[in-house]
Amino acid sequence: MTDKTLIELTGQQTQLIVELGEYAEILHWGQKVSGDLNGFRMALHRPVPYGRLDSDVSMTLHPELGRGVFSSPGVEGHRDGQDWAPVFVISHIEQQQDSIVIESEDAIAGLRLQTELKLDSNDVVKTRHTLTNKKAGVYHVNRLANTLPLPARANELMTYYGRWVHEFQTVRQPLLQGGYQQENRRGRTSHEHYPALVAGTTHFDEMNGDVWGFHFAWSGNHRLRVDVKADGRRYMQAEVIYLPGEVALKEGESITTPWLYASHSNCGLNGMSHHFHSHVRETILPSDFTDKPRPIHLNTWEGIYFDHDPEYIMSMATQSAEMGVERFIIDDGWFKGRNGDKAGLGDWFLCEAKYPNGLHPIVEHVNKLGMEFGLWFEPEMINKDSELFRTHPDWLLAVNGYDQPTGRNQYVINLQNDEAFNFLFERLDHFLSTYNIAYIKWDMNREVVQPAHLGQAAAHNQTQRYYQLVDKVREKHPKVEIESCAAGGGRIDFEVLKRTHRFWASDNNDALERQTIQRGMSYFFPPEVMGSHIGASHCHSTRRRHSIEFRGLTALFGHMGIELDPVKEEQAEKEGFERYIKLHKMLRPLLHSGRTWRIPTDDKAHQIHAVVSNDQSEAVVMIAQLAMPTNSLSGHLRVPGLDPQATYRVTVLDKPSNYDDIVNYQPPWTESGCELSGAWCEEVGLTMPILDAESAMLVKFERIH
Ligand code: DGJ
Repeated sequence: MTDKTLIELTGQQTQLIVELGEYAEILHWGQKVSGDLNGFRMALHRPVPYGRLDSDVSMTLHPELGRGVFSSPGVEGHRDGQDWAPVFVISHIEQQQDSIVIESEDAIAGLRLQTELKLDSNDVVKTRHTLTNKKAGVYHVNRLANTLPLPARANELMTYYGRWVHEFQTVRQPLLQGGYQQENRRGRTSHEHYPALVAGTTHFDEMNGDVWGFHFAWSGNHRLRVDVKADGRRYMQAEVIYLPGEVALKEGESITTPWLYASHSNCGLNGMSHHFHSHVRETILPSDFTDKPRPIHLNTWEGIYFDHDPEYIMSMATQSAEMGVERFIIDDGWFKGRNGDKAGLGDWFLCEAKYPNGLHPIVEHVNKLGMEFGLWFEPEMINKDSELFRTHPDWLLAVNGYDQPTGRNQYVINLQNDEAFNFLFERLDHFLSTYNIAYIKWDMNREVVQPAHLGQAAAHNQTQRYYQLVDKVREKHPKVEIESCAAGGGRIDFEVLKRTHRFWASDNNDALERQTIQRGMSYFFPPEVMGSHIGASHCHSTRRRHSIEFRGLTALFGHMGIELDPVKEEQAEKEGFERYIKLHKMLRPLLHSGRTWRIPTDDKAHQIHAVVSNDQSEAVVMIAQLAMPTNSLSGHLRVPGLDPQATYRVTVLDKPSNYDDIVNYQPPWTESGCELSGAWCEEVGLTMPILDAESAMLVKFERIH
């Protein structure tokens, strides 16, 4: 025991105590507690029971069979069948204020492992490994996983599932022997397997319980595991799924895992989200744009789809500017051969039949109206019905000889082919250099099947090459903002966000569906990176109809936009768009910098979402009525996060147009406002109003003294 040292990393609320000897083990990861580290060590060392190995077995940061850790190993690989059970011994440690870098070696297997562990001031831990082959001969890496321990009281999980137009759905389940595993083999972050989960103490909720949240920052195949060992200890593990033979390290070569981000809070899910949101704002998002207010979008997609007429598009732009839109975006349909979703992808040349005078007149028109101009691309994709495919059939990401299924009638381009990579860069560069483009929407509308380069599996490298292509574009055009979209929310993760500015959360603009999708996304992402549009009253993806008030308030709590044809809209609708655009502009500084609170409700038919300013001087709360109220009265609205000592003026900023007609009498505070202390608002609250299903209301809290 004495030849081991203890290292402590601390955040604002979190403490990580790591014991370092031959290997590293996290002894405590949770709430910060002061005291003598040696006392902690005495308190935390385990007994050794009969009936198993004769010495204590540690849960290291990379479980090793050779140390008797029977959990899923951190490293799996071999050198022609040899060197398959490495045991790493620490050779060097570098400690800084907030991080440790641990170098470990296995001289027999000829491998070096570097483990980085960092805890920042927002209480977010990040960790990754780098494995290097130090010996002659190729080392085939089957698995390289990041592992973090969980305490035995982590009994429950919140995990994600979903699909196209139904992203970020959450589900609760007990964490039992046998554990939980999620595998994503779709070649992009995916709608189905968002790479995050939360473990916590029994019945953890938005406000209560210890929770440990995890986000694996990778836009390709992955495996997440939370396991309960036979002795009751538990751990979380995240890794890239390497396809057979995909990672073969020659002597001197290395492979690095993506970062696994994690955060503990003893104040439930809201506390965890506060850590991740601050971390995203300060560390993940590209730093060059963080101060710029996010412009309100008008995206043409659901307005005109592939039907592009420059004169008409200019009239859409004129109407958009009149409503207060700040960025006008031409979506899919502007390039050669693109009259539907069966052809054209790859031919990134302006369609001269649709745009005989070029794009300049439109861009200039948009700019003259005071708006930025944006354009849609889907660089990684190709239709067989395209000039590009006819010229370069060998550019497909595929295993030769097989006929892989199409997705949205298209295939993927092999970005590992330098010629293809350079062609795509040249095309993007051409448009960004020729026109005054402030933003591009970077789409990816299909999953990846049999990804191969020169016959060998190449999913991992395809994802790396995608990052490199975006990086190269950003390097040449650092002022251009990029939205990550993959048929809606198929590529949303922290690694993409390091090089993009916003996500298209879902192709579903139905406000009711969006309430759930946006809530799921809010656990790990702050509102300003979530693209959220007001769609047409008759929703294209669900055929439901919603009032402008419900659509407007739902879109308000993200990076707002409009997605329809303003020319065809009726006056009343247009006035509605104008109203919510104004409201968003007024509230944008608060919404895009404050703390998000998902507020518990007394009735499941409600969803309440709030943002409180960091100085607690103001807050805005949306009460969304998702379904018919369960009872005739719905309890109270209680708002956390305000200053308990301060007095707030409470006013209703927006309500359904039929608000006064649906009951005899609504709560008086909703009519004339009232003044209350922050403590009252949190502890006792205000009587809930009565709302129709699928409607919403917006309430403002302003500190008056
Ligand atoms: C899928 C995106 O999610 C939509 O918003 C739109 O850009 C279409 N692709 C265009 O093909």
